[in-house]
Amino acid sequence: MRPSHRHPPPPLAPGVLLVVVLLLPSSALPPAAAVGVNWGFSASHPLPATQVVRGLLLPNSVPRVRLSAASSDALAALEGTGVAVTVGVPNELLRPLAASRKAAAAWVHDNVTRYSSGIRFEYIAVGDESFLLSHMQQYQSFVVSAAANIQRALNDAKLSSKMKVVIPCSSDAYQNTSTLPSKAYFRPEVNETMAELLSFLANHSSPFMVELNPFLSFQHKKNLSLDYYLFQLLSHPISDGHIKYDNYFDASIDALITALTKAGFSNMDIIVGRAGWPSDGAVNATPAIAQSFMTGLVNHLARKSGTPLRPKVIPIETYLFSLLDEDQRSIASGSYERHHGIFTFDGQAKYHVNLGQGSKALKNAPDVDYLPSKWCVLDNNRDMSNVSSSFSVACSNADCTALSPGGSCSGIGWPGNVSYAFNNYYQQHDQSEEGCNFNGLGLITTVDPSVGNCLFTLAIDTSTASSFHPILAMLQILVLCFCTYSLV
Ligand SMILES: *[C@@H]1O[C@H](CO)[C@@H](O)[C@H](O)[C@H]1NC(C)=O
Ligand SMILES: *[C@@H]1O[C@H](CO)[C@@H](O)[C@H](O)[C@H]1NC(C)=O
Ligand SMILES: *[C@@H]1O[C@H](CO)[C@@H](O)[C@H](O)[C@H]1NC(C)=O
Ligand SMILES: *[C@@H]1O[C@H](CO)[C@@H](O)[C@H](O)[C@H]1NC(C)=O
Ligand SMILES: *[C@@H]1O[C@H](CO)[C@@H](O)[C@H](O)[C@H]1NC(C)=O
Ligand SMILES: *[C@@H]1O[C@H](CO)[C@@H](O)[C@H](O)[C@H]1NC(C)=O
Ligand SMILES: *[C@@H]1O[C@H](CO)[C@@H](O)[C@H](O)[C@H]1NC(C)=O
Repeated sequence: MRPSHRHPPPPLAPGVLLVVVLLLPSSALPPAAAVGVNWGFSASHPLPATQVVRGLLLPNSVPRVRLSAASSDALAALEGTGVAVTVGVPNELLRPLAASRKAAAAWVHDNVTRYSSGIRFEYIAVGDESFLLSHMQQYQSFVVSAAANIQRALNDAKLSSKMKVVIPCSSDAYQNTSTLPSKAYFRPEVNETMAELLSFLANHSSPFMVELNPFLSFQHKKNLSLDYYLFQLLSHPISDGHIKYDNYFDASIDALITALTKAGFSNMDIIVGRAGWPSDGAVNATPAIAQSFMTGLVNHLARKSGTPLRPKVIPIETYLFSLLDEDQRSIASGSYERHHGIFTFDGQAKYHVNLGQGSKALKNAPDVDYLPSKWCVLDNNRDMSNVSSSFSVACSNADCTALSPGGSCSGIGWPGNVSYAFNNYYQQHDQSEEGCNFNGLGLITTVDPSVGNCLFTLAIDTSTASSFHPILAMLQILVLCFCTYSLV
């Protein structure tokens, strides 16, 4: 590898960088509505955080991000950039944080206070869709206590005037797939927790954060047209009493407002913590349809027309889901879950949408450091009797979601699909020889086996990520010394 050729050296002095970066947002046009993006970390070979921030967020004028967890790499990369940050507390931490005020204080200290002089935090999002039906009730009893402990820790750290605590809630807590917005109410089994949650939010003037999954809804409601989800003109809007709904988003927000009103909190502000459309892994999950959804949503918000129940009022913020594809996200709700990125896993834009950069095309991440151009495919000259078991082994570890019906690789047939699985496994194992064995069925090739839209990807080289920075830092110091010396 010759990193010096592939990575132009970053600006030298941190001070200079800070000035450059602080100038950027003010010179860019403000986004029409308060839109941000979700940035998650469930990837086997993630794009390095500095590249995400300097290569994607800043060049595309993204004003705010919601981190799924307090990744120290991400937070460090965001320091001094002016990008507003919402940081998530994963579900696994809810129980310990609910049990101990000390643990909450430590979480706030380590993941928020430490960065608070360089980062504008907006929200701490406690739990990740902890009310989701599929989670049963495993997180419900902890979520409000965890939020309250975090809130206390923020008070103690004198940070509570700068940021608020929110509790992301999936729309299935209040929206039955077969009922109209005016009939919505919080599910009986979440009733008690929800009453506490709403009281907590109201006590701190915090908004209600809702997570929408329009694609899941679309798959379930067979009788609603795609146009309804994509903000297209409808010849037959849905009638709810005297109100007519012509898009899923407004109907979903009004269902929430109805549920909040029935619970006695009719004026609570709303933030949409997640709204997106996948581009692969299912029928109707394509980049073109995802673009229609995203563009439709951003334009809809920019018009500030609000919903029938709250005319002229839009959610105070809306986070698009999501920034990048994540090959290790749970696929419990469907293979498409790993393909929500506006950008591919390696930071290449799949389509156009205004994230803050206006009508300009999205900029791709530059200088991505891939593993060498080597792929693993099925060796056709071998005894194929065991091939299906090797295929299963590969897919149970690797990401085979593009092979799902409707996916970008669903049409490549056999043995292409076996090669696809082998290659994905091989890349996930950093192209180790062993990662292309499969009882002798695997064959390493330097010829790209991609066919049409079905890409056999090369993984990002993550091995250099950690060793890279110290070397660069030393180089910077050397160059700085040299410059200072020669100036004197
Ligand atoms: C946040 O803080 C806690 C408590 O100190 C720590 O265990 C954890 O690793 C930190 N990072 C994340 C991502 O939660
Ligand atoms: C949705 O409503 C229908 C009809 O009222 C009911 O039969 C069904 O059980 C409800 N589903 C859920 C998930 O609450
Ligand atoms: C869709 O079907 C459900 C019952 O499955 C019905 O209640 C609803 O009104 C239908 N919606 C439309 C727009 O036809
Ligand atoms: C909200 O404040 C009221 C009045 O101070 C208090 O009784 C209630 O317990 C608080 N709710 C929560 C969840 O903290
Ligand atoms: C819980 O149920 C009671 C009684 O049905 C109702 O009055 C209250 O509004 C419900 N609370 C929530 C948060 O849904
Ligand atoms: C097929 O798999 C079985 C069990 O894993 C193994 O014993 C056998 O040697 C394999 N056959 C070939 C041709 O690789
Ligand atoms: C691979 O593709 C062939 C041909 O389309 C299909 O019959 C087979 O089920 C696929 N195998 C797997 C394991 O996906």
